[in-house]
Amino acid sequence: MADTGKVLVVGSNGQLGVELTDALVDHYGEDQVIPSDITPSDRKNFIKLDVLDADQLRVIVQEQQIQEVYLLAALLSARGEKYPLVAWQINMDGLLNVLELARAGVIRKIFWPSSIAVFGETTPKVDTPQETIISPDTMYGITKLAGERLCAYYAKKFQVDVRSVRYPGLVGYRALPGGGTTDYAVAIYHKAVVGEVYRCFLEPNTRLPFLFMPDAVRATLEIMQAPASKISVHSGYNLAGFSSTPAEITASIQQHIPNFQIEYEPDFRQQIADSWPESVDDQVARKDWGWQSHYGLADMSKVMIQCLREQFSSKIVSS
Ligand code: SER
Repeated sequence: MADTGKVLVVGSNGQLGVELTDALVDHYGEDQVIPSDITPSDRKNFIKLDVLDADQLRVIVQEQQIQEVYLLAALLSARGEKYPLVAWQINMDGLLNVLELARAGVIRKIFWPSSIAVFGETTPKVDTPQETIISPDTMYGITKLAGERLCAYYAKKFQVDVRSVRYPGLVGYRALPGGGTTDYAVAIYHKAVVGEVYRCFLEPNTRLPFLFMPDAVRATLEIMQAPASKISVHSGYNLAGFSSTPAEITASIQQHIPNFQIEYEPDFRQQIADSWPESVDDQVARKDWGWQSHYGLADMSKVMIQCLREQFSSKIVSS
């Protein structure tokens, strides 16, 4: 049983939300975790919530006696370029609504994800340091930069306990891709296991940093459980897993599925990817709260393909 009070996950149906909610349930127990999203779900304790509705958010937090909020609801980079004002509204107002609850003392702790999208064309691309040039070129990146500064401001000015990591591209098999530029690395596995050609919207040698979902979930739990005295960065910690290109991921899939084929049809997302780092230096997270990734590309491909095959065959059996 947790000594933290209940936990609210905002955006529990998303790519990260689906898996993080399970991990939180395993850790704290089903009664302690309240999943919420703007789209419906049949998860236990689920509440339909629009994070832009500050009054509804406050009522839920008070009625459910929530102490910690994991705020995952966001528009990602590619969708954010299509709907920039919606991205600004969801990504910024959602965060402010939750920060304000903490400032008022209604909740005790917040997790809010930042991203490699805070970096831009002028940022050093290899082993990008924790402190460096931060000048994003996308609306998503702009909201993440503004969000980082808001978190650091609320932490310093109002002693709000808010914790954040700059996720690289996250790859998992449980949920379909959600409008990001790194999401090609999720979609490619889905196509591979059903024997289809994958049409990639990035060029073959575009190198980006990635993190396999079990590592991302573990990082989130670890930073939230670290003693407050260990947290020296209140904006967003760099977090590294491994770096790969579409060509390398293809070769890794072909180790398991030799006939798998990819075709390259770069679109507007190429420019977004070109503005992001190839790899990030996460030594501050390692030093402060002991972060270490476990998965590389080969291990990830093995698990992705095996789990997607199982999912695919169980769907066929049940349909
Ligand atoms: N995965 C995100 C995206 O591609 C980056 O944080 O938008």
